[in-house]
Amino acid sequence: MRYVITGASRGIGLEFVQQLLRRGDTVDAGVRSPEGAKRLEPLAREVGNRLRIHALDVEDAASIRSFAADVCAAPVDVLINNAGVPGLWCALTDVDYTDMARAFAINALGPLRVTSALLPALRRGAVRKVAHVSSRMGSVADNTEGGAYAYRMSKAALNMGVRTLANDLRVEGFTTVVLHPGWVQTDMGGPQAPLPAPDSVHGMLRIIDGMGPEHTGRFFDYQGAEVPW
Ligand SMILES: NC(=O)c1ccc[n+]([C@@H]2O[C@H](COP(=O)([O-])OP(=O)(O)OC[C@H]3O[C@@H](n4cnc5c(N)ncnc54)[C@H](OP(=O)(O)O)[C@@H]3O)[C@@H](O)[C@H]2O)c1
Repeated sequence: MRYVITGASRGIGLEFVQQLLRRGDTVDAGVRSPEGAKRLEPLAREVGNRLRIHALDVEDAASIRSFAADVCAAPVDVLINNAGVPGLWCALTDVDYTDMARAFAINALGPLRVTSALLPALRRGAVRKVAHVSSRMGSVADNTEGGAYAYRMSKAALNMGVRTLANDLRVEGFTTVVLHPGWVQTDMGGPQAPLPAPDSVHGMLRIIDGMGPEHTGRFFDYQGAEVPW
């Protein structure tokens, strides 16, 4: 199967690439900077053309267009929209609206743009699956705390975008889900996070492997439990 992963330079995205390659899949990895590509290059040397590395900044429409032009030459089976930023975690009076707009551009608009640009290749794929790495912090129903406005609001917007996308694409046989990876030991999650990235990604891959039309438009955590919107 051929997978496309965004934000593949480190953290959860890099772990997706490693686990997929290990089990024999083919991966097109989007990375924002050449620095990010350096982490993937040793893997590419090991697996040859099963890993292709592409420049991709999901905040930049031109970058998404050029990424799609590269990737859409062959059918894509599964797209995993993973790239994301935390934005500034601060109280209401300290909110920086430029930072918040950037968090929206990357966390909410980016995945929608990437999915839209890759649709022609996804339509030619065998399974028509799109998974979005969002966060429980984007759940309105689950929110009992203040702060982290940029992150919470941008992930809530992503969640609504995915639900809408699922409604649009259901008729074409697409399965589109929102995933919460848990609190994971990455640069974003920090060293105090309880969950190693391999466990989180193993769980999310199990969900992606098993997902079918009955799961479209739903929100699951990495263990398969449904998350309230
Ligand atoms: N870690 C957690 O506890 C946790 C919890 C809930 C949800 N999540 C979600 O899981 C996803 C992955 O997070 P992570 O923990 O792996 O974070 P991370 O270690 O900070 O990695 C973030 C990844 O996103 C990429 N990225 C950031 N801005 C981008 C842009 N404009 N265009 C393309 N790529 C961009 C980064 O690339 P660079 O290397 O170039 O910066 C990096 O590859 C995110 O969507 C995050 O919100 C994480």
